[in-house]
Amino acid sequence: MTLCDYKPNEPECDGDDSPIVEEVLGKLEDVPPGTKKTFEVRGRKILVINDDGKLFAINGVCSHYNFSLENGTYAKGRIRCPLHGACFNVRSGDIEDYPGFDSLHSYSVSVNNGDIVIKTTEKKLGSDRKIRHLPKMKECNDRPVVVIGGGVATATFIEHSRLNGLITPILVISEESFPPYDRVLLSKNPSATGENIRMRKDDAFYEERNVKFQLKTSVVSVNPNKREVHLSNGDFVLYSKLIIATGGNVRKLQVPGSDLRNICYLRKVEEANHIADLHPGKHVVCVGSSFIGMEVASSLAEKAASVTVISNSPEPLPVFGSDIGKGIRLKFEEKGVKFELSSGVVALRGNEQGEVSKVILQDGKELDVDLLVCGIGVTPATEFLAGSGIKLDSRGFIEVDEKFRTNISYVFAMGDAVTAPLPQWDIESINIQHFQTAQTHGQYLGYTIVGKPQPGPIVPYFWTLFFFAFGLKFSGCSQGYTKEYTNGDPETGSFVRYFLKKDRVIAVAAGGPSQAASQFAEIFKKGIEVTLKDLKNSKDHTWGHLLL
Ligand SMILES: Cc1cc2nc3c(=O)[nH]c(=O)nc-3n(C[C@H](O)[C@H](O)[C@H](O)COP(=O)(O)OP(=O)(O)OC[C@H]3O[C@@H](n4cnc5c(N)ncnc54)[C@H](O)[C@@H]3O)c2cc1C
Ligand code: FES
Repeated sequence: MTLCDYKPNEPECDGDDSPIVEEVLGKLEDVPPGTKKTFEVRGRKILVINDDGKLFAINGVCSHYNFSLENGTYAKGRIRCPLHGACFNVRSGDIEDYPGFDSLHSYSVSVNNGDIVIKTTEKKLGSDRKIRHLPKMKECNDRPVVVIGGGVATATFIEHSRLNGLITPILVISEESFPPYDRVLLSKNPSATGENIRMRKDDAFYEERNVKFQLKTSVVSVNPNKREVHLSNGDFVLYSKLIIATGGNVRKLQVPGSDLRNICYLRKVEEANHIADLHPGKHVVCVGSSFIGMEVASSLAEKAASVTVISNSPEPLPVFGSDIGKGIRLKFEEKGVKFELSSGVVALRGNEQGEVSKVILQDGKELDVDLLVCGIGVTPATEFLAGSGIKLDSRGFIEVDEKFRTNISYVFAMGDAVTAPLPQWDIESINIQHFQTAQTHGQYLGYTIVGKPQPGPIVPYFWTLFFFAFGLKFSGCSQGYTKEYTNGDPETGSFVRYFLKKDRVIAVAAGGPSQAASQFAEIFKKGIEVTLKDLKNSKDHTWGHLLL
């Protein structure tokens, strides 16, 4: 399977009355204590973990994008995926840290005459992932919890609030045409359809849990005094509690000619599909060399006549450091992508049809262009809150506390649109625009909304993927770092870079096969201190031993 073949909608195993099966996986001697090994049975990969003599068996591929868990970091009953750090409880198979949408099946395992045997059902052995059991509910007319925005933070909130026992109806108002979908795929595979990348494909999944979506509808204002949300169709709805999860709006290019046709931005699935339709055989220019611009360049390179990235920094992806950016740029150039570095667009010209045809750069250079894709940042989608009394910071992000409460009673906010505390890093308020962090906000608000404590500190994790072949992984938060320490060679793409503050690692970036970013996700979660001395003394820069 590849990243885009994943099926996030395997049947639930509620009321599983399929036949019991027993299967021999292999020999116990092949999985000595302290090791793990993947076996295959009926075409299904099963991971067996030998934790000091106690055996566990779960699906062998990650429920996020099917990466093998065999080399994941196992510690104290949890296994963390080496790729993007999703974390699963090996007893239940439940996902405990994101990204991802589903959990794994866990299997009853025993040893018989030296053979490892699993006992399960045909249904459980028939899939690589499970949807956690969410109780089905009767319709009720209580005043709903209203959620504005139908992105990943909302999808994750819905499931965790129901798992934690919230029984109030949930009404999601979303301007999109589809219920929550996997937005990160849009820059990696712009032709992905909304139906295919929906997180829950079956409408009944939500209906049976008393969750309604009002799609293609924007919220235009909020009146907390009356607990009213006003909609673009002129209606209003009343809420018992309000959650704002509206993410970001793309920043628009402001130069002469920026209203020409074939100038595209990317946030929603329709925009991605439009770019995918336009690009074959065309000269594409991507403005911006951060994640979106670079991912779009990589995904259009194969079919476009040419792809050029315009970067206003000396190398792309400047947040990681110019040596890392250079290594990535060289790989892009090998694939035929061109770069205009330390440059910027000052004007655009069009043809007789009103389509963009020339990009004018700061130094006067002109580039031919048929399709311009801009990835120049986002602003918080919070304008509709003007006059509501809900407190925004100077950039427009909604200020929330560690329980995602705004300054107004009964109003919460989460995801890309907020600035929230990050206590593990002693940060009072920070805006983070990562998929995993938005999911974690949704997960944690699913606890606090019913008064339950959150399951541990939030640890940010970010990844990016180019040409479906290589990318970067990042865990922690580098804000305020004072020192860097690098192992490996960033220019070859195989490295670990540590960011330190007061001699202590606060963030880790990795390229190539290193699992350090994923391992540090667990190290940060547990609050384990790793110092510069530890880095200097490390032989191989693997860190799983700290977790045992
Ligand atoms: C193309 C792309 C690729 C990305 N790739 C990565 C990646 O590789 N790794 C990573 O970590 N992160 C990535 N991200 C970032 C990640 O997708 C976001 O961090 C995440 O989606 C934020 O989730 P959210 O629920 O807060 O907001 P969103 O997913 O943006 O959802 C917000 C929703 O609110 C709706 N909305 C906004 N205003 C209103 C309104 N007034 N009324 C009603 N509805 C409204 C929007 O239409 C949208 O559906 C990517 C983002 C994009 C756009
Ligand atoms: S494939 Fe495992 S976390 Fe993404």
